[in-house]
Amino acid sequence: MSRGVFITFEGPEGSGKSTHLRRLTERLRAAGRSVVVTREPGGTPVGEALRGLLQHDTVSEAPVPRAEALLFCASRAQLVERTIAPALARGDWVLCDRFADSTFAYQGYGRGFDLATLEAINRFATGDLRPDLTILLDIEADAGRRRLAARQAGAGETADRFEREAAAFHERLRRGFLSLAAAAPTRFLVIDSGRDEETVAAEVWTGVMSRCAEPPRKE
Ligand code: TMP
Repeated sequence: MSRGVFITFEGPEGSGKSTHLRRLTERLRAAGRSVVVTREPGGTPVGEALRGLLQHDTVSEAPVPRAEALLFCASRAQLVERTIAPALARGDWVLCDRFADSTFAYQGYGRGFDLATLEAINRFATGDLRPDLTILLDIEADAGRRRLAARQAGAGETADRFEREAAAFHERLRRGFLSLAAAAPTRFLVIDSGRDEETVAAEVWTGVMSRCAEPPRKE
């Protein structure tokens, strides 16, 4: 059996990742594909416990930036070994809400850690597993934050540690994601997510079909 297809969704807060990941999953399943859906940080019991530490201050102190970077990678190591690699070996499609590019964007461009160091930690965590396709849902930082605030107000949720960061942090993230995409154009598909949901969903589908119908190229 051939290896499955590994697709990640990336983007700033409020870029619509979860919506479009769900829509793509439904469409792939309707087309008869076996799809595993997961997320980062999280996706495994260990990862979900780390997610609590990383986002919602479930203990009495926030992780320092170096610990934060390592905890994201620890969650990823668990997810790759327990969920992603076995699913790909079975020939499934794996759709993951965030992956290594979020570490490069948030801890690299956002917090200021050296990208080469983050690459090395990430390679250790993942065994150098890379997505076949990364869909970057790009949205202006302000527009994304407005969308997120509206959704959270409707759902009665509060902002997490990252969402509370200053506007300049979110601007660096967006530019960071775009730089990562520019450096790996055959892996990334950048989609303007500031448009209506139907248009974006149609572009995601067309992109996935054109990039993943053939055996994916590596970068
Ligand atoms: P989300 O699931 O709502 O997108 O939240 C995950 C948060 O964690 C988001 O603010 C981005 C952040 N994050 C990092 O800072 N580094 C990482 O490596 C990952 C996967 C997420």
